Amino acid sequence: MTQLDSALTGAPATHGAPEWWRDAVVYQVYPRSFADSDGDGMGDLPGVTARLPYLRDLGVDAIWLSPFYTSPQHDGGYDVADYTDVDPRFGSLADADALIARAHELGLRVVVDLVPNHSSSEHVLFQQALAAAPGSPERDLYVFREGRGEHGELPPNNWTSIFHGPAWTRVTEADGTPGQWYLHIFDTSQPDWNWDNPAVHEMFRGVLRFWLDRGADGFRVDVAHGMVKPEGLPDATVNAEGLIDIPEGEVPVYFDNDGVLDIYREWRPIVDSYAGDRMMVLEAWIPEHRLPLYIGPEEAHQSFNFGFLQARWGVPTMRAAIEKPLALADAVGAPTTWVLSNHDVIRHATRYGFPPEHRFGEGLSREEVPDTELGRRRARAATLLMLALPGSAYLYQGEELGLPEVADIPDELREDPSHHRAGVPGRDGCRVPLPWEKDAPAYGFSPTGASWLPQPAVFAELAADVQAGDPTSTLEMYRLALRLRGELGLGRHVEGVEFPDGLPEGVLAVRRGSVWVLVNTGDAAVELPAPLAAATLLVASGPGVARGVLPADTAVWLRTA
Ligand code: NOJ
Repeated sequence: MTQLDSALTGAPATHGAPEWWRDAVVYQVYPRSFADSDGDGMGDLPGVTARLPYLRDLGVDAIWLSPFYTSPQHDGGYDVADYTDVDPRFGSLADADALIARAHELGLRVVVDLVPNHSSSEHVLFQQALAAAPGSPERDLYVFREGRGEHGELPPNNWTSIFHGPAWTRVTEADGTPGQWYLHIFDTSQPDWNWDNPAVHEMFRGVLRFWLDRGADGFRVDVAHGMVKPEGLPDATVNAEGLIDIPEGEVPVYFDNDGVLDIYREWRPIVDSYAGDRMMVLEAWIPEHRLPLYIGPEEAHQSFNFGFLQARWGVPTMRAAIEKPLALADAVGAPTTWVLSNHDVIRHATRYGFPPEHRFGEGLSREEVPDTELGRRRARAATLLMLALPGSAYLYQGEELGLPEVADIPDELREDPSHHRAGVPGRDGCRVPLPWEKDAPAYGFSPTGASWLPQPAVFAELAADVQAGDPTSTLEMYRLALRLRGELGLGRHVEGVEFPDGLPEGVLAVRRGSVWVLVNTGDAAVELPAPLAAATLLVASGPGVARGVLPADTAVWLRTA
């Protein structure tokens, strides 16, 4: 791409090889909790822009911004009321433009979130649908149906919401009588679009173009396996307790229907028609064997691989969580992706402090107390393993500081709809605003000290300014590993991935050419065999590494001659 192209598209002219996304490290910014510039306790886009140099120095290639669009925030912005404007809490369109421009100046790409399965109930088109009559074109943009039962008093089918409870809500018609029901796979405030309606397709093509025109380098597609529902909206199979039966490794009937693949085939040429290597990454929680259908030259560029995040600590499980997705992605010529934390799961610094069978979602209650030290050690080791693998890695804000999940949030301050609907702790614990400076108000998150969720005292010592320059800190481990990953080309496929045998029991070994990644998953330190004992240590996840000795719950990158 020439300088002129760059000026026209807003994309950086010099940064990154073609298809930069194949081995990129992408840092997820959750705008509410990253940095607050105006002191209202809610993070915002100017706050992100001001901190971009920190991300450049961290060594990431791109940022992914969770939604910052107009929204009543009933699901942290994943309830979009206007896809082509910025919520005043986060700033303005001019602030979004400034953020993208500054990121590009610094050599960082910008991926924005696209939420096509549902809108907010405050979206003007949903409001118009509510006001219109059953059977009207307005209602046909969403999924309205008559109820079952003598008077339509029962939901149209037995589907339940991901956030628990029925997936249908009944509306009151203009004449005041109880009327039709609308579908919401998530909260009642998140009505599903009707993707059988061409007008919905047209609208989203416009949304894609809007952000591509503004210089966005790609999209993270929310609920990317949703959108298209099975014809006739059939009941799901229920078990003896009357709950929807989802066999292990499968998904509810309303997800992963083949029609959704056509949406990517419709979007791909649009994304590819823009200069500057734009991309789509899918948030698709689907059975592994379905993944290759979603990615490829005519579908999406890549998809999150959540198997690695869900893999239990131990050699066979972690090895399988690497081998399988690599094989699947290779089969379609796509890169795989790696992720350990995001805004929906318990932060991995805490998750690894529980027995391996502990769940990864639904947040943490005060009664569930992890082994903090074990969690920190294993999380750092798992991170080093991830950053040595080929493909792209997605980091979640604050994991580079080793932030824990926060369990101690007063219930009345919790905002996650799953907390309110299902009574689970919910996902607020991984969304607590970041600590930047130990001695500043709100640890530097906000100039006034305001913070939409309270930050725990433990954040003081984890603040970025405390960790910067301390070679033993998690932040410096991330910086070193990211620099080495780039220099050694570990994100690229060239060297392949081997799993050599002959290591002590409990040690997972991954070989990338002359670089060896060893993770000791056992309870005790092990002695490494002679050739490795003589290798050069590039980076270690924890203390106690000596020539030929690998402590428990520790990972190293070694280089052989
Ligand atoms: C996935 C998002 O990551 C999550 O935060 C959200 O609640 C659901 N999709 C619904 O949009």
